[in-house]
Amino acid sequence: MSTNPLSSRQQFEQYKAEFHEKHGPEPGKKSTKRERSSWELVRSFLGLLKIHRRSMILALLTLTIATLLALIPPIATKFVVDNVLDKKPLPASLPEWIPHEPWPLLVSITIAVIVISMIRVALQIWGRWHATRVTKMIQMKVRKAVFAQAVRLPLHRVQELKSGGATSILREDAGSVGELVFGMLYNPCRAIIQLLGSLIILAWVDWRLLLGAIFLGPMVYLTHRTWISRIRPQHRRIRAQRAAVDAQATESFGGMRVVRAFGRQRSETSRVLRSNHLMGRQELYAWWWSRLIEIAWETLIPIASACLLLYGGWQVLQGELTLGELVMFLAYLLMLLGPLAVLAQSAAQFQNSLSGFDRVLDLLDEPREMESSTAKNISKSEITGRITFENVGFQYPGSEQFALEEVSLDVDPGETIALVGPSGAGKTTFCNLVARFYDPTSGRVLLDGRDLRELDVESYRNHIGVVEQDVFLFDGSVAENIGYGNRHASLAEIQQAAEIANADEFIKVLPDGYQTIIGERGVKLSGGQRQRLAIARAILADPRILILDEATSNLDTESERLIQDSLTTLMQGRTCFVIAHRLSTITHANRIVVFESGRITETGTHDALMAAGGKYHEMVLLQTSPAEVS
Ligand SMILES: Nc1ncnc2c1ncn2[C@@H]1O[C@H](COP(=O)(O)OP(=O)(O)OP(=O)(O)O)[C@@H](O)[C@H]1O
Ligand SMILES: [Mg+2]
Repeated sequence: MSTNPLSSRQQFEQYKAEFHEKHGPEPGKKSTKRERSSWELVRSFLGLLKIHRRSMILALLTLTIATLLALIPPIATKFVVDNVLDKKPLPASLPEWIPHEPWPLLVSITIAVIVISMIRVALQIWGRWHATRVTKMIQMKVRKAVFAQAVRLPLHRVQELKSGGATSILREDAGSVGELVFGMLYNPCRAIIQLLGSLIILAWVDWRLLLGAIFLGPMVYLTHRTWISRIRPQHRRIRAQRAAVDAQATESFGGMRVVRAFGRQRSETSRVLRSNHLMGRQELYAWWWSRLIEIAWETLIPIASACLLLYGGWQVLQGELTLGELVMFLAYLLMLLGPLAVLAQSAAQFQNSLSGFDRVLDLLDEPREMESSTAKNISKSEITGRITFENVGFQYPGSEQFALEEVSLDVDPGETIALVGPSGAGKTTFCNLVARFYDPTSGRVLLDGRDLRELDVESYRNHIGVVEQDVFLFDGSVAENIGYGNRHASLAEIQQAAEIANADEFIKVLPDGYQTIIGERGVKLSGGQRQRLAIARAILADPRILILDEATSNLDTESERLIQDSLTTLMQGRTCFVIAHRLSTITHANRIVVFESGRITETGTHDALMAAGGKYHEMVLLQTSPAEVS
């Protein structure tokens, strides 16, 4: 949040200027990323459609038949005008069973038209139903792929996307992919069949009419081409902006307590509003571009049809066409206009949906977190739990500074290591590397002598338990939250874990006990209660390697002492990394490691470090009241 942000109008002026230079790089989009052509996008989409081929063929087939059926009624009109009203004899080529008397002929034609129309409606609905189903199935498939990809992106990319931004891609952009079924296939297909059908019939009436259509073709193509290159980048930007707006709104609601506490409701509203304004302006700008093509088409069409009408009228005057043929001719002219207007409109919608698909493909193309085809799965029995840091250096992505430098440490299986040091010294970073949330910039982290990078990251994390100070709980029941790390746990096991974590007592007095719903992020619980749930969750997951990062910081001394006993039981037989600012809680650790500015400066047992009189000694003295210092 800058203190003096640009107004939405200023931002919009910048946006327009960028568009005049080129199509404008998207904020956050890497400039090295290549642009996808419409054709590439269409091909990828057809790839998605492959498994729904049968449904789509059915839909398009019924659509074709229905559209062709719709072409019949104007022919009937011709017979009504010429052979019923004008009483001309029917052409000799027609079969015998067709009534030749005017009145029976009129009734038969009417019945035929009604029957044909009903069949057409039924076929059309049936086809539309199939197409709609494919739309929904594709939306679900794409949403699944986007979600599965987003939860496997490297952590820093997830942080860049923000929760609201990811939601936006999931809802808006992935949703628009499904709409391509109609925007790209169904509607254009109907328009084209109708267009071709009526053209063919017109050509059958008089072949010279085709010339007009042949002339229209390239014009339409050219206007479309120049315009497509303009419109899709705009829709991409609008979509990016929408993701930003969603991210902002989600963030404001996530931090609602802070917003209220500092009385910032008004400024949060205006911050979200400003981004919304910019999006509104961008949308209006794109609206004009979309209308330009429509205006071009829609003026071309009446001009072309007026010329055709002029030609047809002249033909009647010359005696080349009958009155009935002219009426039919006019009906088909109208049928020509409809599909062209539909094409013009769905072209704009099509580009918009395509830009959503483009963004989805961008996301799906991003490399996943620590992907490796050679990575090995690892089972619990294979792990003894020796963790070795070999001269590890680490920088957070995008950061200049080293958060860890030359860190070497060999931790025996089952050993409990306490990490201490001033704030920002790199303790959490060290644990992030143990849990492999990141890979080291230099050096290696080994598990039982094997580089973590050789292991499949998801299978490795199954053996890691993490309890952090900032506990995250899901909106669900207490039991579901404790069972999060072990899906097959029974209620009895959940209860047992809660007892060990000293949480059973408070859970029992909750309104619905273990089935109590705890609200988003566990808002209905106190900080200490949340922390005890997180500990129970880790206990139940039964990990080989346990990370406790300020896990008991929200507890009062009494509860902490109670849990400490259970934690000691929990830590037996596991390799543990414990971070605690309250040093009295870590005196029992096998080894204490002191971090300062990303480096390890002291290692040893409590007694050894106290005797050495270094940084740890100093920290302990600072935390103990003078009376207790002996
Ligand atoms: N996601 C991140 N991106 C960039 N820099 C980070 C990130 N997380 C932490 N840092 C930086 O890395 C350094 C070490 O942070 P770390 O969280 O490891 O400290 P810590 O020892 O756990 O501190 P504390 O006791 O306050 O929790 C800090 O300077 C911090 O600014
Ligand atoms: Mg920390």
